[in-house]
Amino acid sequence: MIVLGIETSCDETGIAIYDGAKQKLLANALFSQIDLHAQYGGVVPELASRDHVAKLIPLTKEVLRDAGLMLEDIDAIAYTAMPGLVGALMVGATFAKTLSYMLDIPTIAIHHLEGHLLAPLLNEDAKPEYPYVALLVSGGHTQLIAVKSFGQYELLGESIDDAAGEAFDKTAKLLGLPYPGGPHLSKLAEKGRAQKFTFPRPMCDRPGFDFSFSGLKTAVLNTWQAGEDQNEQTKADISYAFQEALVDTIAIKCKRVLKHTGMKNLVVSGGVSANKNLRLVLSELALKNHWQVFYPPLEFCTDNGAMIAIAGAYRLANGFVDKDMMITVKSRAALSML
Ligand code: KG4
Ligand code: ZN
Repeated sequence: MIVLGIETSCDETGIAIYDGAKQKLLANALFSQIDLHAQYGGVVPELASRDHVAKLIPLTKEVLRDAGLMLEDIDAIAYTAMPGLVGALMVGATFAKTLSYMLDIPTIAIHHLEGHLLAPLLNEDAKPEYPYVALLVSGGHTQLIAVKSFGQYELLGESIDDAAGEAFDKTAKLLGLPYPGGPHLSKLAEKGRAQKFTFPRPMCDRPGFDFSFSGLKTAVLNTWQAGEDQNEQTKADISYAFQEALVDTIAIKCKRVLKHTGMKNLVVSGGVSANKNLRLVLSELALKNHWQVFYPPLEFCTDNGAMIAIAGAYRLANGFVDKDMMITVKSRAALSML
């Protein structure tokens, strides 16, 4: 079964084609709106929706051409239905429903986080086997989820305030780095020196698997404002210490959760899973504790259509398709809602 995947939940228009029978990604196209929103220091929802409208048709043509397929070869259309910016989600959902009406094929509503959860399966060399613990670290979410099998998700812990990506972005902003701050802060941290600053590892002294990152951002703000040397080296040193504290906190919770569940596979996904330092620390921890750790291919860590197409292929194989033509999108929704 050939599935067209459509992602429009935020500031990336992603379209991809996945072959469920061959378990192979046939084509992928992405347009990132980063430049459009950079001047405002964050995503402007109305501009995001308008740009998705402009990009959906050209990107769909592009993936069909790359895969050597015609629209009539598509068996089902998967689209991100939740969570996300409602206007942006509506654009993708309306496009999906229109194509489905035209082609008389089903649509499949996908939870954006399920897409991130399944993105490591796009890695043809190292696919995780069930059961596994998934660490979802994106701009909107930081969650630890026990994945027993496809569709069996149990939330074990999450951030009670800022998501990891949000903490990266807000901290970067207060250090005067460009939007989106995560990758910029991480790059700057490479020039930082160890042990110049130390920030707290929030909530690690308490039992449980929840996170809290907003205090870390405040600690950085206080350090930066109190410092007399507000130069590039200080900025790099602070970035180093911030990243170290955040990564260390995540590693402590992953270790705790793997011990608690007895699972041996850790899957790391979402935009922050592109972070080199996080990958290094988690891979070292896995080696030491005899677990295996899996990541999506780098290009599929951040939002993309391929993860929606693969999630659609799995949903289709398990008999989940939309029952009617109603367009139902949600700005917030727990993963188990679908
Ligand atoms: O998954 P994603 O594309 O969008 C959401 O669903 O939120 O994640 C975007 C987030 C942003 O906060 C961005 O700064 C962060 O992922 N990010 C990174 C890196 N690459 C992306 N954070 C730290 N280091 C990176 N290399
Ligand atoms: Zn995402």
